[in-house]
Formats: sequence, structure tokens, C-alpha cells
Amino acid sequence: ASKKLIDTLAETHTLGRQALLELLQDTSAETAQYLFAKARNARHRVYGHDVYMRGLIEFTNFCKNDCYYCGIRRSNAQAQRYRLTPEQILECCDAGYELGFRTYVLQGGEDPYFTDERIATLVRRIKQRHPDCAVTLSIGEKSRESYALYRAAGADRYLLRHETANAAHYAKLHPPELSLENRKRCLRNLKALGYQVGCGFMVGSPYQTVECLAEDLLFTKELNPHMVGIGPFIPQHQTPFADKPAGTLEQTLFLLGVLRLLLPNVLLPATTALGTIHPQGRELGILAGANVVMPNLSPVSVRKKYMLYDNKICTGEEAAECRLCLARRMERIGYQLTVSRGDYLHSSSYS
Ligand code: SAM
Ligand code: FES
Repeated sequence: ASKKLIDTLAETHTLGRQALLELLQDTSAETAQYLFAKARNARHRVYGHDVYMRGLIEFTNFCKNDCYYCGIRRSNAQAQRYRLTPEQILECCDAGYELGFRTYVLQGGEDPYFTDERIATLVRRIKQRHPDCAVTLSIGEKSRESYALYRAAGADRYLLRHETANAAHYAKLHPPELSLENRKRCLRNLKALGYQVGCGFMVGSPYQTVECLAEDLLFTKELNPHMVGIGPFIPQHQTPFADKPAGTLEQTLFLLGVLRLLLPNVLLPATTALGTIHPQGRELGILAGANVVMPNLSPVSVRKKYMLYDNKICTGEEAAECRLCLARRMERIGYQLTVSRGDYLHSSSYS
């Protein structure tokens, strides 16, 4: 029965809520392998065996929000806070450029120090130095006006995971001042402003049910984003969710496969969190349908301070080491890292 559902999904790129629920409840190895083969097929038709890389720059871990799952939440008094200077950020970009990166992802907590003016100036400076590179922002919920300002400064893409598409579940992961409604409004504004947009969610976050996951998939299909970031929830010992179990490798891979078939052209990273819960997590993610990796370009001196979750990998390695390590890992499974902006491809066969 599951194979039939996967066939339908592979052909039509859509499934109803009931069918998704049914499929999500059968993550047996046999079903998973069947799914992954179809997902790879879909991915090869659009993106071949290329794996795009994004240079992640974690430029501040100050955050005014208090998400219960996150290690850099404002209530974590033990977090060692840092901010990179514009010069440090530009140095990360320059070093990344030499290593073949053509996309920079500026990610941070919601840090009021970085006013709209400061962000816009930073984006302008990066685009001036590296006009052939894409700049992605991942700095949380802002007004439409702020997003418009960053866009005018040259920002190309924006990552804002919706975290969960179920409002009741959203309320269990966040304090009352944060709402799913606002998160969704932000995503729609970003799209309207012409950004390449990424939504996404954690797999296995506390209180998540398969119903929640089905809603995540339906919401994602409806939003039709260019990118989707998913990874397992991993507890961080200084948060209220310190004792909650982590999401599993199996379920995360399964969702990557389903997402590839739902949105064949989507840019789908095999995340650092996936590499953290299993030594071959990122390779397995690529083999389940992902086509992007996001190695860290932040200075090694601050890596350990951006501790969203425990045991994060690559906190001691230089960018060049991660670049080489990932190139080898991808080659071993028959894929290659490419020097490219890695833009979303609108291939006609799927439109
Ligand atoms: N502040 C920005 C925002 O909210 O979009 C960007 C930074 S935020 C730390 C980036 C992502 O980290 C979140 O969207 C969340 O899904 C993920 N994250 C936070 N805590 C996590 C945890 N304990 N395990 C796995 N992922 C986590
Ligand atoms: Fe960082 Fe392997 S990717 S060491």
C-alpha cells in the first residue's frame, strides 16, 4: 500500500492529508528504500549528481526570543554571547570565496544590535565584493518594510523555518509572544518581495505527532518555497527541553524523501543536525533526496558558542577542512560538490 502511495506521489507530486498520514506511519526499511530510490530519481532529473554548498556564517548568538528548544534563547544565562564585526564577516566571505563558495548564509539570533541599517549595509558590502555570489539571510521575523530594505540592498534569499504548521504545537514550542500566524505572514511577505524563500521544521520536536508532520508537508506544498530546511530536533542541556528525546535519523530521512517528491525542484539541505545524530547523516540525507550542504564559515573561535543543540559537529574544524571533508564524503557516494550559486531551477518537466 505504501509503495502505491509513493508511486502516486512520484507521479503527481501531491498527496492528501489521509494518504500522507498513512505513508508517514510506515517508515519500514523496505518502504524507505523504495521512497529514496524514487526521490533520487526525481532529484537527478533536475539537479543531476551536483551538490550545492552554502557557506554558513553564524554572525551573532544574541537573541531576544525565547524558543524552548533553542540553546541561544535569551533565558539561557550560560550562553557565551558574541557578535562578529562587519570586517570579520567580510573576511569569512573572502575565505569562503577562495574555497569555491558562491552563496553566503548570514544566520543569527534576533539581535536588536543589528538594525535594518546595519544589515542592509552589510549585505551591500558583501554584494559589492562578491557580485557573483548570492546572499541569504536567516535572521528571523521582521516587518515587511525591513525585508524590503534588505532586498533592495541586494539580499537574494531568506531562510525562515516555520518550525511547525500546527498552531497548538507551535504554542508548545514557543512562548506566547510568538505565533505561527506571524511566522506565516513573514514567509508570504518574503515571497511577495521576490526572495528565494525557505521554510522548514524540526523532525521529532517535543509534542510533534504524525498529524503535525502531515500539516507541515501540506503547508510546505501550498507555500511552494524554493528551499526547505529540515533536521532532527536535538536537545540542548541548558533549555527547557533538555530531557526530551532527539528526532530520529530514520524519520528525518523519510521526510527528506517525501519532500523531494512533493517539490521535485526544491533545494533541500542535508543539515548539520542530521550529521550530528549520525556519522553518515549528511551522506544518507543526500541519498534520500537532498541536494545541498551548508558547511560552516564562521571563525573557529566562535563556533562552540553557537550551540543551538548539544554535540554539534564541525565546531573545531576550519572552513577549508570541512570543505575538503565534505567533498570527499560526497565523492564516496557518487556526488560532487560544485562551485556555483546553486539557484533554484525551474525545469519545464515539472512545472
Ligand atoms: N533566528 C533565526 C530564526 O529564528 O529563523 C535563525 C536562527 S535559528 C537558531 C535557526 C534554526 O535552528 C531554527 O529555525 C530551528 O529550527 C533550529 N534549531 C534551534 N534549536 C534547535 C535544536 N535544539 N535542535 C535542532 N534544531 C534547532
Ligand atoms: Fe566539517 Fe567534516 S564537514 S569536518
